[in-house]
Amino acid sequence: MRPPPPRMESLKSRFRATILPYHAWKHFRTVLLRRTHPYGIVPDRPQRVIVEPTNACNLKCSYCGNKDMLRPWTYLKWELYEKLIGEMQALGVPRLTLHTIGEPTLHPQLPKMVALAKSAGFTVTLSTNGTLLTDERARALVEAGPDILSVSVDLADPEALKLVRPGIDPAEMLAGLGRLRRFRDESGPQSDSPWGVVRLPSLVATCVVTRYWNREEERRWFALYGPLIDDVFIHWPNSHAGYSKAEPHRRRSWLPARLKDWIYRRARYSCSYPWDALFLLSDGTMSVCRFDFDARVKIGRYPEQNLLELWHGQKMMSLRKAHMDFDFRDWSTCDDCNATWYENRHDHFRYTQQVKRRNAFVARRDMWLAPEPMAERRRKGVGTTASYAG
Ligand SMILES: C[S@@+](CC[C@H](N)C(=O)[O-])C[C@H]1O[C@@H](n2cnc3c(N)ncnc32)[C@H](O)[C@@H]1O
Ligand code: SF4
Repeated sequence: MRPPPPRMESLKSRFRATILPYHAWKHFRTVLLRRTHPYGIVPDRPQRVIVEPTNACNLKCSYCGNKDMLRPWTYLKWELYEKLIGEMQALGVPRLTLHTIGEPTLHPQLPKMVALAKSAGFTVTLSTNGTLLTDERARALVEAGPDILSVSVDLADPEALKLVRPGIDPAEMLAGLGRLRRFRDESGPQSDSPWGVVRLPSLVATCVVTRYWNREEERRWFALYGPLIDDVFIHWPNSHAGYSKAEPHRRRSWLPARLKDWIYRRARYSCSYPWDALFLLSDGTMSVCRFDFDARVKIGRYPEQNLLELWHGQKMMSLRKAHMDFDFRDWSTCDDCNATWYENRHDHFRYTQQVKRRNAFVARRDMWLAPEPMAERRRKGVGTTASYAG
């Protein structure tokens, strides 16, 4: 089936993105929900745990709060990590993410961490800036077998990329991504999937939209990175809970930036993290936010309190109530955050689809799709290896 004409899609998306009554209506529905569920609907356990292997980073990206963080750099201890994995397994928490703030490949035991989590049966994802992936590191990471490995590649133009992400060597980042792709294709662990046997990890590029991102840059981006990746996710920078104003590279807008930020914080939706995830920072602090550079959304410490105590504890309930009531007097970091506007609208997904379509990029997973489902192929005794896995 042919996709709808891009122009139409773009108009629709623009309409939804700019019309305030649409968002006001969604906001109103949240307010109604709060009457029946003052703390929201709380799952009996977290749906995922997000682990910060380290908050150290080798770059100073313009839109990222990492460079303004006061918290000293620390590295997660192996014993703490092992304990967490055991407890997650006992509780049946299905997903683990191995990055939040900082560059996870700076942790020397990262591949071992991934391997342990995979052997415990979790779906494991992580993101890297791709600049430290020597042959040895890239191979070890791939062979540990994360399900999704994201690499942050914002721009194809090396000079613009250096302005947006000071400290980066664009050639080294490109080489790192190339190594991941080569090792994945050669020796990535094989895994069953609904569309046949595939090799892990899926390589996803993430791209933050800055003022250098335009149609010309888009074309160069897909020409350069397209052949190396399976999929892409494009998104706008948020305020990183007040840490990042992203001024130097903010896209021009007809609204003054401060006014826009003020509106976005007032017209927000409830954040999903308090009902979804726990964040273990590298010094053992448990948080609930992926922009918690200085551990201000602290709900306790691990392992002094176990996961369930933290999840159902008084701090978490207070945070949930604050998000249901949009009353952030006790949670100033949440008050400073505009990500709930940016991210909960899911405009990122619509925009990503548009950009992919106009650059004729098809996610590789779609290409892997076998003509018949795996079970059917097995029943018939035909080969179960999709052509991609080789
Ligand atoms: C904070 S980084 C941590 C992992 C790793 N250092 C990296 O660069 O991929 C995770 C992701 O957040 C994105 N990011 C950083 N600052 C952001 C902001 N202000 N708004 C939205 N995304 C941001 C990065 O581009 C990256 O893809
Ligand atoms: S986005 Fe990633 S690489 Fe850039 S400063 Fe933040 S943590 Fe470091």
